[in-house]
This record gives sequence, C-alpha cells and structure tokens, in this order.
Amino acid sequence: MLYGNAKQLSIETKAVHGCKGCDPQTGAVSFPIYQSATFRHPGLNQTTGYDYSRLQNPTREELENTIASLENGRYGFAFSSGMAAVSTVLSLIMPGQHVIISDDLYGGTYRLFEEVYRRYGIEFTYTDTSRIGEVERSLKGTTAAIFIETPSNPMMKVTDIAATVALAKSRGLLTIVDNTFLTPYFQRPLELGADIVVHSGTKYLGGHNDTLAGFVLVNDDSLAERIKLIQKSEGAVLAPFDSWLILRGIKTLGVRLEKQEKNALAVAQWLRRHEKVERVYYAGLRDHEGYEISKRQASGFGAMISFSVRDTALVEQVLERVRVIIFAESLGGVESLITYPIVQTHSAIPADMRERLGVNHKLLRLSVGIENVNDIIDDLDQALR
Ligand SMILES: Cc1ncc(COP(=O)(O)O)c(C=O)c1O
Repeated sequence: MLYGNAKQLSIETKAVHGCKGCDPQTGAVSFPIYQSATFRHPGLNQTTGYDYSRLQNPTREELENTIASLENGRYGFAFSSGMAAVSTVLSLIMPGQHVIISDDLYGGTYRLFEEVYRRYGIEFTYTDTSRIGEVERSLKGTTAAIFIETPSNPMMKVTDIAATVALAKSRGLLTIVDNTFLTPYFQRPLELGADIVVHSGTKYLGGHNDTLAGFVLVNDDSLAERIKLIQKSEGAVLAPFDSWLILRGIKTLGVRLEKQEKNALAVAQWLRRHEKVERVYYAGLRDHEGYEISKRQASGFGAMISFSVRDTALVEQVLERVRVIIFAESLGGVESLITYPIVQTHSAIPADMRERLGVNHKLLRLSVGIENVNDIIDDLDQALR
C-alpha cells in the first residue's frame, strides 16, 4: 500500500489510486496487465508469490485489494461474473441447511438457487426482508444465512442492514448482502456488521457495459480461507485483462455515481408527474417507504428507477421509440439502459411471485446513465407521447 493508512483516505481517492497504485517495478501509472497463465519459480521450493493465475495474478490481486479497501473489508475476491461470486457464497451452505432471501431479487440469482442449489439439498425461503418481522417468521432451526439485495431488484425495496445483522447474529447466522445497486461508494454493509458482500462488478464498478465481473468481500479469516479455496478450486476467476478494465472503471466510480444519482432523481421526479406513468419506484423520493432507512445506512440512493405505465400497450411503444436510452439488459454503466423485467431480468421468477411483487406487464426498469439529463428526459417524453 503506497498511500499509508487507506482508511483515512476518502473513497474517491482510493478508487482513483487503487491499492498498490503505480506498478512498483516500472512506475507505470496504469497498473500493468499480467497476461500470464503461469509464473517461473526462482528455484526449487521458491516462489515469487505468484505460481499460476487461477491461484493468484498480480492484476487481479490489485483489483481484489482495491475493492476490499473501498468496502473497508479485509479480503476481496474477483470472479468471472456476479453469478460466479454468488455461487461461491452459496457453496458455503451445507445440504440440509436453509437460507432466507429477499423475495424481490435478480432473476438469475433466483434461478441459481432454485435450479442448481436446491438440487444439492439446500432449502430457500423468499420473503420481504424489508420487513424484519417477516424475516423472523421465516427462521427455521436449519437456517444458516440471510441473503439480501438492497435496494432490491427491480422494486427498489430497502432492507435495514443493521437490523438484519442484529437478528442474524442473535441466531448465529451469516448475513450476505448483494451490494450491486449502490456499490461501496454509497453503501458499505461490512461496516454495518454484514459477514459477506457480493457484487456484480459488471454494473457500476466496471461502469462501461464492457466487462462481466463479480466480487466477494469478507472480514473473517476462516470465511476468507474457505472462499479462496472455492475460488481456486472451481476456477471462475476474473481474467487479467478484465481485471484491468474493472480497475480502470473503478477510477471514475465517484464522479459517475454522483452524476448518475443526480440524473436519476431528476428523471424520477419528472416521471412521477407524467400522466401516462402510474407509479415510480426510486429510493431517493422522499415518500418512498425505504427513504429514511436509506438515509441512515447509505450515503446515496443510486440511479436505478422502476416505473409502471398506465397502459400495457405503452411498454412496447417506449421500448421501440427510445433513442438515447438503450433497450438492453444490465445496468450501472455510463449509458442509460431500459429493461422490461417480466420478460428479461426476471423471467426466471415464477408468475405468481412476480405478480405479488408488482413485476407485471406494465413495469419498466431504467438504469440512468451519465448523459445530459435533458436528453434522457426528452427521450422518455417522445417515447411516452
Ligand atoms: C443485483 C444483481 N446481482 C447479481 C447479478 C449477476 O451478475 P452478473 O450478470 O455479472 O453475473 C445481477 C445481474 O444483473 C444483479 O442485477
């Protein structure tokens, strides 16, 4: 660490400079891409600290240490996608154990739990984790962990992280937080007592819709040891070039998120006044149910908005007419993207569960980018007309 006690530096500065920062050997300001699968041993029983890139690679290590320092965590692990990171965390759960999960969650996570891990004898209960009483009611003797997304995807429900941690700790359970929507720039669950943070680094951390990546962050030594073992054994590691792309993306995390959030608030307020819009879901609106909790546990509301239109026919019209905003899956990048959760990101969720949550044929999800906000609003205006 070139920067002394990193905890004293602000998060924007840590994001710009990374962990080691410049390449210690050459002074290269852009941390090098160590595009090597394997590393020469100096002699028998000797190592440079790097033996084989599935185990460790200098570029990936710089990224892992950087994301750990942003989350104020002790250990970071980078994976080839967010799903690989979530899957690694699920590998900590034993057959016969039970996990409580936010009922409003990314459809791919639901699919992984139901189609892959349920077959290994793990039981899941989906519940509204924004209501701590519901979480308490879902507890069983076999419960091992509580897994939350906050704000949730796509209904933007906010779960009280500290209250969830308190409940989990009183029962000896792990608290796992998917922090994709806010990133450590706005929310640091490990500081609130969570045991594990996961990310789709594909989203805001990368920030440019050009790389898949995932992260796991922990503080506990034995959890870190286990995750390292799974990472090197299963091998879903992030490649050196992709690690460098994410390191580069992270440098501008602060400015991107500030701008995206500012844009998102303006767009949410505009949408709310639109006669063809039925309801807007954005945690930064003062009358959002989770507004006060958000203010307490995060320093920003992020840039994800869902909204329902009054007439289902409008959905197709909006998706066909948008020009600045791109009709595409994913979120968090500099480009504004619009998705139709019921047929895209949340198609794996059963129809009755989707209906209960409000993920219906009128709901659209908007990831607000860094374009000029007037262009985003004008685009929505002409698309909704
Ligand atoms: C909240 C959340 N978690 C995890 C994932 C999975 O990440 P990836 O697509 O990088 O595998 C996504 C993807 O959309 C997501 O939105």
